[in-house]
Amino acid sequence: MSEVALLQIIGLCVVGVGVAILLFIKAQFLRVVGFVVIVLGTFALIALGVPQMPSLPPAEEKFDVASIKTPADMAAIGQKIFFSKGQCALCHSIGPSESARCPDLKGIGAKLTREFIYESLTQPQAYIYLDYRHEGPPKEYPARMPYINKNPIGLSKNEILSVIAFLQQMSGEPITVSPSEIEMPGVPKMAEAAPTTMVQAR
Ligand code: HEC
Repeated sequence: MSEVALLQIIGLCVVGVGVAILLFIKAQFLRVVGFVVIVLGTFALIALGVPQMPSLPPAEEKFDVASIKTPADMAAIGQKIFFSKGQCALCHSIGPSESARCPDLKGIGAKLTREFIYESLTQPQAYIYLDYRHEGPPKEYPARMPYINKNPIGLSKNEILSVIAFLQQMSGEPITVSPSEIEMPGVPKMAEAAPTTMVQAR
């Protein structure tokens, strides 16, 4: 039984006790107590009837390796990360946007290689892309690209690879990230582990 259901049953019992006092007991003080108990019990029941919404941090995208079979599966996870945990959409738009303070990432998968995108995310200060959207010399953007693999965003390598897959897919490029590159904690990468070591491990 859920915690809420248990509390609701307790609340009902409390109200029931109050009603019984009012019905069967004549002593005035106890009748007042019974009335108070009914009011409090009803109040608690109404409060418990309000749907409970725990405010938890956004759920992490799970890397269920069994469910990731194609590069498109990775891109689908990458898309979720782009708009949630990765916080990319806070700064970047996909397509021109009036309010975007940072580079438009439309077609970025065609413009940058996979390695360059990886570096843009993990060593953002190595190459600063400037703002050319105005007359005169290019200026720096008013924001700084954060280290995506460090706190507070802290994406894992798997998550970064998925975001790259998404960026390539939405640019209409072939996805060059392969599901075999996903690392499982404690399990050697399929691509690297030789079959003999796999047998020995068991
Ligand atoms: C705080 C704002 C901010 C956030 C959050 C952010 N970026 Fe950036 N990003 C920038 C800025 C500013 C630049 C341009 C300066 C530079 O190259 O470092 C940039 C540059 C880039 C570039 C290189 C663009 C080019 O044309 O060379 C890529 C790719 C990129 N971001 C992807 C991402 C992805 C993917 C995420 C989410 C995982 C992300 N960014 C999150 C601000 C942000």
